[in-house]
Amino acid sequence: HRHLLGIRDLSPADIKSLLDRADAAVAISRRHEKKTSALRGRTQINLFYEASTRTQSSFELAGKRLGADVMNMSVASSSVKKGETLIDTAMTLNAMRPDILIIRHASAGAAALLAQKVGCSVVNAGDGTHEHPTQALLDALTIRRAKGRLAGLTVAICGDILHSRVARSNILLLNAMGAFVRVAAPSTLLPAGIRQMSVEVFPTMADALRGADVVMMLRLQRERMAGAFVPSVREYFRYFGLDAEKLKVAREDALVMHPGPMNRGVEIASEIADGPQSAIQEQVEMGVAVRMAVMEALLDPRRNPADGVAA
Ligand code: CP
Repeated sequence: HRHLLGIRDLSPADIKSLLDRADAAVAISRRHEKKTSALRGRTQINLFYEASTRTQSSFELAGKRLGADVMNMSVASSSVKKGETLIDTAMTLNAMRPDILIIRHASAGAAALLAQKVGCSVVNAGDGTHEHPTQALLDALTIRRAKGRLAGLTVAICGDILHSRVARSNILLLNAMGAFVRVAAPSTLLPAGIRQMSVEVFPTMADALRGADVVMMLRLQRERMAGAFVPSVREYFRYFGLDAEKLKVAREDALVMHPGPMNRGVEIASEIADGPQSAIQEQVEMGVAVRMAVMEALLDPRRNPADGVAA
């Protein structure tokens, strides 16, 4: 592969290979000396049109740990503010000959569009409500390291499924790797096509969490609810917020996950987010490793015979 646009494009073997590579990157990131030369001489540009803490900083650190030159395009102070289009901005950056472009954008399909226009590799860091493939990979790595496998596990994904690219990418990946996926959400926060996605849909948290190995909570994305259905926080937490009482029906050793950023007291209680079953900090650590693995795989010199390395 030259680009990573979505989990849909990856085979189970591709996913396993990226997770294995990411395991090695975790070991590198835990060393005192974290820098390698795998991407020395390569140029990485991060182009984030939407806010990000975890994804942008971990892509930057991942590039630096691989020895690449990393440039963060500051969209807020760029000519995007003067009306320059996504394509014109990307073509301008492309003319500076980057090797890899990391893009986050509010529109579904933005990363795929860029991939058709630029000469370098493109990684989708979240496109609208479509996909967030590196998030699903880092979630899978977190689960695999905690549980030793993905196949056969029951994973409950709960909350605002409708607006969640994280949910979509996770459903695709977990299904591909043989896990059983359940979702729990208010009916107004379920996408129309959810029943075609090989998931079991439950109207209550209790039903979805019963016996689950992993409980994945999602952020209530009020910024994407343009005036339509915006549930009251108190009611939402009562029915769909993860607290100790609701978590009791999951397996005793169930892993609690959240991609961040969290709305504490809305979709998850603080005592659970910070509690012993929470893997939220591990997810962040795995984010750097997975992004190292993805960029290294895409820019593997064996895929670029022009660099003088045998294909
Ligand atoms: N999980 C995630 O994508 O977080 P950021 O929006 O902070 O990058």
